Amino acid sequence: MPKVLMIASEAAPFAKSGGLADVLGALPAALRRQGVEASVVLPKYRGVHPAGIEKIWDDLPVWINNFEHHTAIWLLRRDQVNFYFVDAPWFFDRDGFYASYGNDYGDNHLRFAVFSLAALSIARQIEHPDVIHSHDWQAALAPIYARTWFPADPALSHVKHVFTIHNLGYQGRFAGERRHELGIDDRTFTPEGVEYFGDLNLMKGGIVAADAVTTVSPTYAREIQTAEHGFGLDGLLRARASVLSGILNGVDYNDWNPATDKLLPANYDLANLGGKAICRRALLEEMGFGPEVWDRPVIGVVSRFAEQKGFDLLQPIGDAVVAEGVTLIALGNGEPHQEWIFHNLSERHHGNVRVWHGYNNRLAHLIEAGADMFLMPSRYEPCGLNQIYSLKYGTPPIVRATGGLEDTIDESTGFKFGEYSPEALLHTIRWALVNWRDREGWLQRMRLGMGKDYSWDRSACEYAALYRGLLGT
Ligand code: ADP
Ligand code: GLC
Repeated sequence: MPKVLMIASEAAPFAKSGGLADVLGALPAALRRQGVEASVVLPKYRGVHPAGIEKIWDDLPVWINNFEHHTAIWLLRRDQVNFYFVDAPWFFDRDGFYASYGNDYGDNHLRFAVFSLAALSIARQIEHPDVIHSHDWQAALAPIYARTWFPADPALSHVKHVFTIHNLGYQGRFAGERRHELGIDDRTFTPEGVEYFGDLNLMKGGIVAADAVTTVSPTYAREIQTAEHGFGLDGLLRARASVLSGILNGVDYNDWNPATDKLLPANYDLANLGGKAICRRALLEEMGFGPEVWDRPVIGVVSRFAEQKGFDLLQPIGDAVVAEGVTLIALGNGEPHQEWIFHNLSERHHGNVRVWHGYNNRLAHLIEAGADMFLMPSRYEPCGLNQIYSLKYGTPPIVRATGGLEDTIDESTGFKFGEYSPEALLHTIRWALVNWRDREGWLQRMRLGMGKDYSWDRSACEYAALYRGLLGT
């Protein structure tokens, strides 16, 4: 059975800020069902101390640039998967994962270098994997260090490296001088390696060092090879096209299924949709709306508020959307300007728009269930999970045709627009509202979406085939 060690900065339910965590929380167990033994290495952030976790290595020294960093390793076995946690309080016992009050920590390069090196120690001394599968820039130093520091190490030299890009918009780019703090020498700091216009670019280094590069949908795999979506790495990605592929994420229907969801006031399924009306009423009441809105269409948003998510399109058309009689309920947090867009809309239209700023998993589930439609007008979207959840919850999504949104939504289950413009979004929302008023047609649309199956098994099967291909087994 091939052994894979995954390295990532988030995994649900331990540490989550976005979809990366959903993937790492579910994919390893799904791989097991495909005959792949997967383990995961994560940072031990503040407050992460799940029941059953055990310290298995008291003092693992990590040396970088002649400096010794002390770490300890904890282990939790869950669904037959080993989750290792790198405990380095100096680096990870902090308010946020990557930032505090919107400011990235100044030592993120070093934090994730120590993390990646500790993960390599777990590979060398405990797990002995056949494949190391690193996710996003936070884990990109694992293949880079493995290639440059341990080329002849008997536990690592035969290992194949897979690197997955979950979001090319976050590359882990740091001032070039920082390389000295990471012990990256001039042979690696080259345009063919981790150097990028004088800076250190960890994602670039990961893409170069890996044997196979994947991203999280087939359309995004094509898009990132274009100047429009390549964030400056499109040339490199074109050069690596022969080892680049897109494997669509799955979703975990144990967590996201209205028939069994314990976070909802009522459950429902294809055959019995009654519970959805109860969820809808509960959502409206929780957000402080009265009976005057009960018959109006409800559009839901659950999102990181980041430029990527496209809500700047909503700003100029907010008044026109409200004039259609829409109730808009948004949950999210993130960049101040994006938060302001929703804050401003709700101030001006308190009777129609309510926003919950922050992170709230229970409310995320209630919005998926209680809304009539779900809005994701993303500028770009590597995969996107919420639109897939909303299909299952009978909440047809309104999406821009990009990345995973393009791959998972069609005109029979949702509403798509191509041009990135407020007019195109407004037109599509209006078209969705026309459809919503046709109750029979709408029910049919809901049912089609609820019947779709995006469970992890299909994606896990593709990853398993990729690993086996690399290992020649
Ligand atoms: P991304 O990873 O780019 O943020 P995805 O759609 O892949 O986008 O995944 C987002 C995940 O994070 C979903 O599980 C979604 O429910 C969750 N999420 C995002 N923002 C919030 C929030 N404010 N509160 C609760 N859950 C959230
Ligand atoms: C990133 C992307 C999102 C994707 C998630 C999981 O956060 O923005 O589209 O679904 O990773 O792969």
